[in-house]
Amino acid sequence: MNRIVLIGFMGSGKSTIARKLSMIYNIPIIEMDYEIEQQEKRKISDIFQVDGEEYFRKLETRFIEELDINGSFILSTGGGVILEEKNRELLKQIGLVIYLKSDISNTLRNVRENPNRPLLMVENIEEKIAKLLDYREPLYSQVADEIVMVTDKTVMAISEEIMQIIKGDNHEIISN
Ligand code: S3P
Repeated sequence: MNRIVLIGFMGSGKSTIARKLSMIYNIPIIEMDYEIEQQEKRKISDIFQVDGEEYFRKLETRFIEELDINGSFILSTGGGVILEEKNRELLKQIGLVIYLKSDISNTLRNVRENPNRPLLMVENIEEKIAKLLDYREPLYSQVADEIVMVTDKTVMAISEEIMQIIKGDNHEIISN
């Protein structure tokens, strides 16, 4: 297995950890949200506003279906990618799926730094996060090969845990 798939709630640090692992293993990152924005030539927030969440979910599925899975890479996914059963199946086929598990307080702290998230454009963010997490948690766990708790841990500590998992499970990450 030479591909890593990072899943987790908004603000769990998928992009940051992907960047760190990309440096460590010298393999590229595929940032799903960014790629979808490039394909659509507009921001995720515009996609949600103009065409709605359902349309965005279709774009996510199409993106994963069409992804060229040759070679090594780290796939950093959007937080809602696990909502579609088809996506969950496909992610498992792509690589080692690691769930970056974050609690509400950690999530709140991180999402406040980047308010560009259409699903959190609500009055009571905490309540919304709790509701979404409650629904999604079993889905993240279901698709995950490994779960890494991220709350109150540094980027380096989380990355080291992932490196241990990769080593311990005899996964091999080969740079392209
Ligand atoms: C979403 C998470 C976002 C982005 C979109 C929807 C979600 O990605 O895909 O706003 O449903 O959780 P991040 O997890 O990178 O914030």
